[in-house]
Amino acid sequence: MNIFAVIVAAGSGERFGGRPKQLAPLCGSPMLAWSIKRLGDRRNITGLVCVVPPGGGETIRAGLDGFGADDIDAWPEGGETRQHSVRNGLAALPPEATHVLIHDAARPCVTERLISRLTDALRTHHAVVPVTPAVDTLVHTEAGVVDRVVDRSHIAGVQTPQAFELALIRRAHDAALESGASASDDGSLVLALGEKLATVEGERMNIKVTYPEDMAIAGAILTQETRE
Ligand code: CTP
Ligand code: MG
Repeated sequence: MNIFAVIVAAGSGERFGGRPKQLAPLCGSPMLAWSIKRLGDRRNITGLVCVVPPGGGETIRAGLDGFGADDIDAWPEGGETRQHSVRNGLAALPPEATHVLIHDAARPCVTERLISRLTDALRTHHAVVPVTPAVDTLVHTEAGVVDRVVDRSHIAGVQTPQAFELALIRRAHDAALESGASASDDGSLVLALGEKLATVEGERMNIKVTYPEDMAIAGAILTQETRE
């Protein structure tokens, strides 16, 4: 297995206040630096690709100077949607890559434990996503009222990184492009092919920074972890 990581950081942060959040300062480093460090520190990950906003690559590279920019092997530009950005990231992988972890720059609290669970699972599975069980009561709403309660015993939230055999995830993205299908993550595209999608235990602390207030939560998680 020759595992590479693709970090997608080409979003525009509409819900973050219309500014890219990749370089937002978080516990002394740009947010993106946390993912680079944790993926880059794993000995079984051969290289890192970072997908940057079209025309915004220089800003990202400059912002990461001294914060892991040297650990990045390629800086492809992203596209209009996350799916396009992942596709461009996969295209930038070197020929020796056989497997890939696809990770959102917006999840800076990814841990080495979770990364290891995923790379271990790649020995027995072709496609693996981390999941966390739903804890809230879940309901279906219609016009402002609840019309039914959803049985949450089989419902889980899906996180990144997600781990794949490279040929399989490329085939999934090609099929999606051909059919015009769009999905908010990569595991969904594998599922759409009719292929098995395995799970590992995700981590409640591996939150996604979506809104500005999520920064305080991410900051508290990282401060706590670095103390441990
Ligand atoms: N992303 C990307 N290319 C896009 C859109 C998103 O690489 N065209 C990346 C983001 O940079 C982020 C991850 O996908 O690391 C998850 O996306 P999200 O949290 O939705 O970030 P944004 O798209 O930037 O935020 P918003 O949807 O609020 O605009
Ligand atoms: Mg988005």
